[in-house]
Amino acid sequence: MNDATAANNRQYLLAARPQGMVKTSDFEYRQIDIPEIGPGEVLIRTTRISLDPSMRGQMENRADYVAPLEIGDVMRAGGTGEVVASNNERYKVGDKVTGTFGMQDYCVSDGKNPPFRVYPSDISPEQALGVLGGTGMTAYFGLLDLGEPKAGDMVVISGAAGATGSVAGQIAKIKGCTVVGMAGSDEKCRWLTEELGFDAAINYKTQDVASELDRLCPDGINIYFDNVGGEILDICLERIAMNARVVICGGISRYNAEGPVPGPKNYFNLVFRRARMEGFIVLDYAARFPEAIAEMQAWMEQGLIKQHATVIEGFENLPSALIQLFEGVNTGKLMVKVD
Ligand SMILES: NC(=O)c1ccc[n+]([C@@H]2O[C@H](COP(=O)([O-])OP(=O)(O)OC[C@H]3O[C@@H](n4cnc5c(N)ncnc54)[C@H](OP(=O)(O)O)[C@@H]3O)[C@@H](O)[C@H]2O)c1
Repeated sequence: MNDATAANNRQYLLAARPQGMVKTSDFEYRQIDIPEIGPGEVLIRTTRISLDPSMRGQMENRADYVAPLEIGDVMRAGGTGEVVASNNERYKVGDKVTGTFGMQDYCVSDGKNPPFRVYPSDISPEQALGVLGGTGMTAYFGLLDLGEPKAGDMVVISGAAGATGSVAGQIAKIKGCTVVGMAGSDEKCRWLTEELGFDAAINYKTQDVASELDRLCPDGINIYFDNVGGEILDICLERIAMNARVVICGGISRYNAEGPVPGPKNYFNLVFRRARMEGFIVLDYAARFPEAIAEMQAWMEQGLIKQHATVIEGFENLPSALIQLFEGVNTGKLMVKVD
């Protein structure tokens, strides 16, 4: 019924709700037969599987914007793939696709469940998951719609060497802002300034973030694009300029925390500085993804946005890759190559 080559469908299932840091034992490996497709369905063979911080919350059903994940379910994950069999006239064998295919080799879809979209064959899987994928869209809408950057703005970005932060910073540079990034190693900081054109970078693990921000942003922060939350959010809130925009994209410092996490103590500066702090979920912008992809692609062609991915080889490394995401192994978009 299909021209797939692998004999089995390898899968990782959710085996346990994580306690604290996610562990490999929170996943169960199994192999099953490659599924058959019914009328209107397609069979997709995955090629890259994306690792995203939000997967940690989904393992605990902490977020209400996605369907619950039960113990024994295939672990939810975004990815790229190729249509290897089709009973749906809208999709043909060989189509390159991206969607939520899960941690498995093969996925059956009717085009809606799970949803996916075809991407042009001249785009690499790394680009389809990176700048032109979910994290690129997050950077685009978070920075442009919520951050409302203006030339001359001082923009500070945490998690700056990751998939979302690195793109948000490059878009801010396109808009004429001064951009300071924070990342967890000197090598990442050098990459931000020397390769991506950030104006400055702070190694939040070895440098004093507060005094570095005082030095680099003497007139305050106009846009803080927050990927990490916690103490760094507080430090930035203390330094916002008049009418600042604080974009709450994520809070990775809390995702593996056990027990209650402290709230920001400097939030009242939002009042004194007549500032705005706002969260968002990128999925709400899905109808506008085509316009964003077109603009991002043009920026890439002009060399204004650089795409970078950290690609780990081998299906068996999927659980450990998620742990490594929280350890900061990646520069740019993290994914596992499974084909
Ligand atoms: N709102 C939305 O719709 C939306 C959509 C996608 C992603 N997000 C959020 O955006 C953020 C970035 O996601 P991403 O997919 O682009 O991941 P990413 O930034 O590519 O990878 C995560 C990075 O976070 C850093 N990190 C890990 N633990 C940290 C900690 N305790 N404190 C500070 N930094 C830490 C690590 O880099 P270092 O070496 O620098 O520590 C790691 O490389 C996440 O918070 C995610 O939840 C939000």
